[in-house]
Parts: sequence; C-alpha cells; structure tokens
Amino acid sequence: MDTLPASRNAALAARDLAVVWHPCTQMRDHESVPMIPIARGEGVWLYDHDGRRYLDAISSWWTNIFGHANPRIGAALKQQLDTLEHVIFAGFTHDAALELAEALVRIAPPGLERVFFADNGSAAVEVALKMSFHYWRNLGRGDKTRFVALTGSYHGETLGALSVSDVALYRETYAPLLLTPILAPSPDAYARAPGESWEAVAERRLGELRAILERHAHEICAVIVEPLVQCAGGMRMYHPRYLAGLRALCDAFEVHFIADEIAVGFGRTGTLFACEQAGVAPDFMCLSKGLTGGFLPLSAVLTSSRVYEAFYAEYGSGKAFLHSHSYTGNPLACRAALATLEIFRSEPVLERNRALAARLAARLAPLADHPHVAEVRQTGMIAAVELVRDKATRTPWPADERRGLRVYLHGLEHGALLRPLGNVVYFMPPYVITEEEIDFMVGVAAAGIERAVAA
Ligand SMILES: Cc1ncc(COP(=O)(O)O)c(C=O)c1O
Repeated sequence: MDTLPASRNAALAARDLAVVWHPCTQMRDHESVPMIPIARGEGVWLYDHDGRRYLDAISSWWTNIFGHANPRIGAALKQQLDTLEHVIFAGFTHDAALELAEALVRIAPPGLERVFFADNGSAAVEVALKMSFHYWRNLGRGDKTRFVALTGSYHGETLGALSVSDVALYRETYAPLLLTPILAPSPDAYARAPGESWEAVAERRLGELRAILERHAHEICAVIVEPLVQCAGGMRMYHPRYLAGLRALCDAFEVHFIADEIAVGFGRTGTLFACEQAGVAPDFMCLSKGLTGGFLPLSAVLTSSRVYEAFYAEYGSGKAFLHSHSYTGNPLACRAALATLEIFRSEPVLERNRALAARLAARLAPLADHPHVAEVRQTGMIAAVELVRDKATRTPWPADERRGLRVYLHGLEHGALLRPLGNVVYFMPPYVITEEEIDFMVGVAAAGIERAVAA
C-alpha cells in the first residue's frame, strides 16, 4: 500500500504537479515553493484543504472585486444555468448579452455606443488593435499599420497584445514573432525628477508623444495605454493630465486612443472607469477581469458609432469585422457581469472604497520611511511599495535575488496571498475587505518586507 500523504494539501499538490502546467510559472520553482490547493473561497478569504486560510490581497489577478463566492453573483448564475448555458453569438442573441451591452453603454464614457464581446483580456486587446487597423483600412488608409504603446506597458500575452507590451520578462523571448510598436516614454511618476510633480511629468511626456506623432501619425492606427496605472509593469502610476493630453493629440493627429481598462476599470482607481478622472472618452475601451466579479472569463470592447459605421457596408465590400471566438457573449458570463453591475448600482461601492483606500494609505504610510522602500504609492484601491537595495540612489535589488518571492512565501506562511511583481509589493484587494482585514494584510506584508530585505 502507498504511504499515507502528510496532508490533503500535499496529496493534491503532488497530483497537480504530475499533470498540470501552470500560467506564468517556472514549474521547477515548485520543488521548493508550495503549490496551494484551494478548497473554497468566501469574501476575501481562500481556504486550503488543511484548514488554513489566505487573504486574497490581489483579488486573484485583479478579477475578484466583490469577494469569493459572492452570493448575489452566485444566485444570478444559478438561475441562468437552468435557462441557457451558451448559444452561438453569430445570427443569435440572448437577454443576458443584450442587457449587458445596454448597461455597459449606459455607464461608459460618452460616445462609446457599441459593444463587441470576447472572452478574456488579451482577446479584447486583439479585437481593439484589429478593429482600429481595419477602421483605417475601410476608410482607404491602409498605410496605417502601426501602434504606439508606452514603455512599461502590459496588455496581455497573445502575440498582438504582447506586441504592444513592454515588460521584458514576458516579451523578450518572443520578440522575433511580434509586431514592432513605437514606444512612447511612459508618464510613470516614479521616474520624476527631484521636485517635479506628477502633472509635470505627464506634460513632459505629452511633449515627447507629440514629437512621435508629428513624425509617424501617417502610419499609426492607435495609441494604446493602461489609464492611470501600468499594473503588470510594476503598478507604476501617472497623472490624469496625460489622458486628457493624449485625447487631444489623438484628435489632432487622426489616431485612435485605445484605453485598456482591463485591470483599472470597475472602480479600482476611485472612479468607475479610470478615464473619467481625465474627463475623456477613448475610441476603444477594453474591459475584462472585474467585469464578471471574477466569476467567469468575459471581455468587452466598447467603441463609437463612427467606428461601427465604417464597417457597415454591403457584404461583398470586405469591410465586415469577421473576428470571433466560440464563447463570444457567453450567457453565464454575461449574467455574472450583470449581477456585478447591479452591485455597483445598488450599493455605495465607490464611496465605501474611498474609506477603505484611506485606511490602506494610513497603514502603509510608515513604510515610506523604511530604508529599503523607495516609494509607497497609491491610486484608489491599488497601492504599491517599491523595494530597492539603495534608497538614496533608488538602485533596485538584482532581479535574480527574487526578494519579492520572499514576501510571497512569508505571506503564505502567515495567511495572505501577496504576489509581488518583481520587487514591487502591491495590494489590490476585493472591495469587500474590512478595515481590520486591511490592517492584517498590511501587517503581514510589512513583516514579509522586513524578512525579504534582510541580507
Ligand atoms: C491591463 C491589462 N490588459 C490586458 C490583460 C490581459 O488579460 P488576460 O489575462 O485576461 O488575457 C491584463 C492582465 O493582467 C492587463 O492587466
């Protein structure tokens, strides 16, 4: 007979590691880093099979905005399950998708009046890039074939989305396969000169973007940005002025503005959509992640009637947007999204988040003085602590020392799922977190940081 496993966790982890290949993982790491099998979730907590629990400080890759096993979203899904699980979305439609499209148009920045569904964030970025290119082609501007992206940006892992991303860790290996965007310097405020304001950095970067557009606008379809926070690139933040200036430049140079709100949409930055803080509407807005409250994969690209009409023509003209995914507009995912929007409609989510964000700021403030913390920054319900080897010169820790991994391991030992991006420890918790849970989360992280920076 086999020997009995030490724990149910260990048994499940061993079975998993024998057959599963996990995302964004060097699988060999699991020779020393534990694989955690999760049995159930409730609110901000994830429970493993040995009775331990972990506070999900990163909303499971920024998806789970109203807590795990949220009963309101669950109930809506159960009803939909008994009615319609899926239907082809070409030639057919259903209540959940059309209600969701209507609802998204109602809450989106003005002028975004058409909704195209896809099934994950990267797919939404692919849709926006292709639609922008195809729009110009339909207008006889086939010379527009390139995109502008910001340094430090991240838009997903599929080849098109990765092409307009600038995180070397993910992009470098595949560079020979990718489109070559024109990179504009990010308005990232971390890189500001001494005494320079966030707004001044934005102005300076707008000047540089203008110079790029002056030279290249004739060949550029769109500028794609993550509004206000470049998330996977290290939670780098910038002033809304950049988005206002970007809108004006895109208009002046006849280039589209693609807002990738996949990570920052749905209240994360303090407003429902980050673009609202600049009072601008993009030509394309990509949504996913929080859209379904973290229940099911779904994404949407919102665009204008003007863009839509450029595709509306006789069949033989070849102007139609023939992009599709099998699960486009999946009814279960749309129902989860409607339930998520209903929570925003019926509860003072943004107001509550303001109080939670203030608590988070207060608890994190002392870390700013830490000798290995270069910066503590925050935009709404995203906060980040940038660890460095040398505070005065902001010299980062060498990547191969993997200081962030030490914080991750400390978190697991002490009941928190923290997953630093390199040396940036960040917090993006579900909005149902309590003030006491914020205190706990920051406490674990602070102790983890102390351990991580020790020789
Ligand atoms: C801004 C942004 N765009 C796109 C994506 C890709 O989304 P997905 O992982 O669903 O493909 C992400 C994922 O982290 C993201 O943060």
